[in-house]
Amino acid sequence: MYEQSNTKSLLKLRGVTKRFGGFTAVDGVSFELEKGVIGGLIGPNGAGKTSLFNTLAGLLIPDEGEIFLDGVPIHNLPPHKTFWAGLARTFQIPRPFLEMTILENVMTVREGQAGEMFWNNWFRHGLVAREEKVLREKAEEIIEFCGLTRVRGDHANTLSGGQMKLLELARVLMADPKIILLDEPAAGVNPSLMMTLVDKIEALNERGHTCLIIEHNMDVVMSICDPIMVMAQGKLIYKGDVDGARQNPQVLDAYLGDLP
Ligand SMILES: Nc1ncnc2c1ncn2[C@@H]1O[C@H](COP(=O)(O)OP(=O)(O)OP(=O)(O)O)[C@@H](O)[C@H]1O
Ligand SMILES: [Mg+2]
Repeated sequence: MYEQSNTKSLLKLRGVTKRFGGFTAVDGVSFELEKGVIGGLIGPNGAGKTSLFNTLAGLLIPDEGEIFLDGVPIHNLPPHKTFWAGLARTFQIPRPFLEMTILENVMTVREGQAGEMFWNNWFRHGLVAREEKVLREKAEEIIEFCGLTRVRGDHANTLSGGQMKLLELARVLMADPKIILLDEPAAGVNPSLMMTLVDKIEALNERGHTCLIIEHNMDVVMSICDPIMVMAQGKLIYKGDVDGARQNPQVLDAYLGDLP
C-alpha cells in the first residue's frame, strides 16, 4: 500500500493523535515535511512535541491518524522497523554500551548482518570478514564526521555529555536515515559544543539528510530551521517561516511572546 503524493514531501502526518488515559497529548496533528529541509518543532513545555516524536518513531502507537515516510505507511511499525525504514530518533536504538569502545559502539548498529547467523561464522567466514571490513570503514568515516576520531578507542563511559550526544548521532548515521529527529540537541551542552552540533546538523543536511529538530534555543531554531512548526496544547498551531512565526498572534500568545 503506497500513498501517492505529487509533492516532494518526505514525511506526511494526517490527524495524528496520542492520548494518555483521558489526556490528549498530541491532538490531530497534520503536516508535510519536504525532502531536504531542516524543520524546527517548537512550543511551550508540555505542548506534546516529544510525544509526537515518540509517536513518529514507533515508540508510542498513535490512537488515531496516519504517518507516511516517502509514501510508505509507518504508523503501525515497531521502533526498530521504523528506524530501518529511514526515520531515526536516537532513542530507537539501544543506549550505548558503556564498557565498549566508541568504534565498537558505532559498529554494533547494523541490521541482520551475516555475522549474526551462526552457520555463516562456520561456513562463510570470508563473507563475514568482508562485511566487517565494510562496516568498520563506514563506522570510521562516520566517527570522523562526528569529530570522535581521537577518542574512538576509548570506552563510552569516559565520554563527556556532549561527546555522548555525538556518539548517539554517529550510531544513528550508521542506518543512513532519510530523516533524523533530534529532541533538544542543544540542551545541557556548552556553547562551543552547541555550535559543533549545529554545524553537524547543517553538514548532514547538505549531505541530503532531512532533519526535524525540537529545540527551545531560539538562536539555533532561527538560524537553521525552515520551516518552523509550533505546537501548543497538543495541536499544531503554525507551520511556516521564521518571520511568519514572529508575527503570528497565536504563536506569540502561546510561546514566542515570552521570549526576549
Ligand atoms: N507516558 C506518559 N504518560 C502520561 N502523560 C504523559 C506521558 N508522556 C507525556 N505525557 C504528558 O503529555 C504532555 C506532553 O508532554 P511532552 O513531553 O510531549 O511535551 P513537550 O512539548 O516535549 O515538553 P518539553 O518542552 O517540556 O519537553 C505533558 O502534559 C506530559 O505530562
Ligand atoms: Mg520534550
